[in-house]
Amino acid sequence: MSRKVIGIVMNGVTGRMGYRQHLVRSILAIREQGGLALENGQLLWPEPILVGRSEHKLKELADRHGLEHWTTSLDEALAHPLTEIYFDAQVTQAREQAIRKAIAAGKHIYTEKPTAESVEAALELARLARDAGVCNGAVQDKLFLPGLLKLKRLVDGGFFGRILSVRGEFGYWVFEGDWQSAQRPSWNYRAEDGGGMILDMFPHWRYVLDNLIAPVRSVYAHTATHIPTRVDEQGKPYQATADDAAYGVFELEGGITAQINSSWAVRVDRDELVEFQVDGTEGSAVAGLRNCRFQHRAGTPKPVWNPDLPATESFRSQWQQVPDNEEFDNGFKVQWELFLKHAVTGSPYQWDLLEGAKGVQLAELGLRSAAEGRRFDVPELEI
Ligand SMILES: NC(=O)c1ccc[n+]([C@@H]2O[C@H](COP(=O)([O-])OP(=O)(O)OC[C@H]3O[C@@H](n4cnc5c(N)ncnc54)[C@H](O)[C@@H]3O)[C@@H](O)[C@H]2O)c1
Repeated sequence: MSRKVIGIVMNGVTGRMGYRQHLVRSILAIREQGGLALENGQLLWPEPILVGRSEHKLKELADRHGLEHWTTSLDEALAHPLTEIYFDAQVTQAREQAIRKAIAAGKHIYTEKPTAESVEAALELARLARDAGVCNGAVQDKLFLPGLLKLKRLVDGGFFGRILSVRGEFGYWVFEGDWQSAQRPSWNYRAEDGGGMILDMFPHWRYVLDNLIAPVRSVYAHTATHIPTRVDEQGKPYQATADDAAYGVFELEGGITAQINSSWAVRVDRDELVEFQVDGTEGSAVAGLRNCRFQHRAGTPKPVWNPDLPATESFRSQWQQVPDNEEFDNGFKVQWELFLKHAVTGSPYQWDLLEGAKGVQLAELGLRSAAEGRRFDVPELEI
């Protein structure tokens, strides 16, 4: 089998997502499995070229994983003879400029979400990539999670009948940083640094709803900054200027109502950190990251409201688990493999920068809705 080495500039690999999910769990995992077999008989070998701001951090990371290529210069990385793909997991604010540069250098683009800070910028990136004829993709990892793949299986099999509504609960307590350190970076809580719940999570909710249930047609959002002061990585108190919770109501095509609460100031009383309940005329399901439980109309209890009596049945025990029926790999890695194949062989790939721009569009409209207290239609996006 002939081996094709493909250089991937990985920018932002010292960060949480760039390191754990993209470098270690995706690109290095593909190398550990011996590369990626292509249908044309070639074996694809991804060669990361690490880019970041700190020489010391990059060198340490490269040494830890036995990697050869790293630099603090994006230009140098893009000019490397092996480079074919540019990947961006930097803080959101740094993304647009770097992607523009990579497109101008003729590289394929793969990027974390949100793809840009405004819908105009996100669409412009999609346009530039199209005009340059480069392959492009945006991370939509939740679609590749076992729990949501099982939910999709139920949708595709017609389990729900007519879908009526979706309710999502996402979140957990993010420590304030005073008596226990915060488990998320401080920029996430500063609007001026590209932080905020809506900008972070609405891009996810857009592709989850669009792809699994039905296209999003309108949005109403209410936001809050529940914790106004936090303590940063240096132990210094700062003002949280961004929303740390967003309560969204979305109207989907076909009259489906979706309602998703997202909060970093909530304590978890759920089986998983995110759960979506889908109710349909024929049955309901609750999908999380890994599991999905369901209840058919034939197994639906008939509770009678009587607050004078204790609950007479255990509602949670009346649901059944959707079986795995297949092996699930890491969602980020699965999407990376699809993108790599697309970039090398031209195989179909639907999660492109235009799809990424739709996520930014929902975030932008969500923020406007929260600021103005109005519901907004979500128009079709075109490039
Ligand atoms: N797909 C997902 O589920 C998911 C989850 C979390 C974050 N993200 C996205 O990934 C991106 C990175 O998030 P993260 O949580 O890994 O953040 P992080 O703060 O842990 O990492 C940010 C990276 O950007 C680099 N960087 C470049 N310019 C910078 C600057 N001016 N200031 C600070 N850092 C700079 C940092 O060195 C670091 O490598 C964000 O765009 C975020 O929206 C996606």
